[in-house]
Amino acid sequence: MTQYIIRGGKPLNGTVTISGAKNAAVAILPATLLVNGTCRIENVPDISDVHLLLEILDRMGAEIRRLSPNTLEISCVHVRDSEASDTLVRRIRASYYLIGAQLGRFGHARVALPGGCNFGARPIDQHIKGFEAIGADVTLSNGFVCATAPEEGLTGGRVNLDVVSVGATMNIMIGAVLANGTTIIENAAKEPHIVDLANFLNAMGAKVSGAGTDTIKVRGVRSLHGGSYSIIPDQIEAGTYMAAVAAVGGNVLIQNVIPKHMDCISAKLREMGAKVTEYDDAIRVQRTGILRRANVKTLPYPGFPTDMQPQIAVCMSLASGVSVITESIYDTRFGYCAELNRMGAAIKVETKVAVITGVEQLHGCTVHACDLRAGAAMVIAGLAADGTTVVEEIEYIERGYENIISKLEGLGASIKRVETPSRRSVHAAG
Ligand code: EPZ
Repeated sequence: MTQYIIRGGKPLNGTVTISGAKNAAVAILPATLLVNGTCRIENVPDISDVHLLLEILDRMGAEIRRLSPNTLEISCVHVRDSEASDTLVRRIRASYYLIGAQLGRFGHARVALPGGCNFGARPIDQHIKGFEAIGADVTLSNGFVCATAPEEGLTGGRVNLDVVSVGATMNIMIGAVLANGTTIIENAAKEPHIVDLANFLNAMGAKVSGAGTDTIKVRGVRSLHGGSYSIIPDQIEAGTYMAAVAAVGGNVLIQNVIPKHMDCISAKLREMGAKVTEYDDAIRVQRTGILRRANVKTLPYPGFPTDMQPQIAVCMSLASGVSVITESIYDTRFGYCAELNRMGAAIKVETKVAVITGVEQLHGCTVHACDLRAGAAMVIAGLAADGTTVVEEIEYIERGYENIISKLEGLGASIKRVETPSRRSVHAAG
């Protein structure tokens, strides 16, 4: 098992550069199955979720050239009409994008139901509703999703999502780009990575409009051609470093970001007393005094992101007063609170609400990462705590944070990655 060893109590100072958006990359890579040519993709985050998806595509016959850790060329022209490896597929939630991609490319798909961080039930009924709206017949059997287009191919349709779903919005978009006719997705999710996927598809010749609003129109085209695309910076990675400075103290310039994507996070940190300064493609966060309490309710974009919930909880644990977090996206996403309480936090969880009473100091101890963002929260807590914190199960963290050790060391943190001689466990991530 691999661990992070953190000696806390040192403020963070310096500059950190944000990598490409994980949740855009994990949709864009499967979507290359639709492209009749070579895609050159830049600013691909060098993280294990991406490595896993590239392994899946490689085994399906994709030709992949890594020109640098963050730039690759991928051609799926010779990909066989075959199943993706179900052992790999089950390890990552984003593998469900292979359903839309295979359905759009081959007219049928058979993909193992995905894994993903454990936040309670994570159904895919809205994905299925969308595929059925464009004419596919979808069944679930033996842990697989099987989707088949009619003889005459997929046809444009209209779907109104019952739940604002990032995955369903992106998956239906992917399935619809080569359909005959126009597809309308209503009550669509509006996250930055949705817009990024639409921009990628349009760069390859698709006709997607309205991404970033709650109504997306996809006019089917006959084929997609190769081209180049650069993935947007990761909103949640940026937010994580912003929360880290607020929790630990210091003065950090976070560069290669789109500040607007973090509007809600910046506003909350300012409300809590951090100083947040926005530039064209950078944000500076400074925190010297004591943080003030605040409340958060997680919402679909542009609301406060659920993927920033564990991180802001660490800031609240160190703020003066009582803060409340209401988790409105998932059934259970507070598993990390027990770990924070072991470090001296005072958090009471009642189903979807966490009541956080600020404390003077967190104290280092051994904790584990329950999931990707909870793991990031454990790192922030360790940086803020006195003494030494050991974070276990860090495989989750490395699914979504590129070079986190060197990035934090560059900010003056004392953190190192150590391998311990026990069997590595495998972690699915959201
Ligand atoms: C994506 O998950 C992200 N993962 C998650 O990020 C993120 O938390 C989530 O969007 C919300 O922003 C990836 O992009 C790979 P949803 P996804 O469909 O698509 C319910 C991270 O840390 N729902 O927007 O699975 C669902 O149960 C990960 O990077 C249905 O009911 O999320 C949830 O309650 C963790 N039926 C809500 O909608 C469906 O068919 C939002 O889920 C689909 C979803």
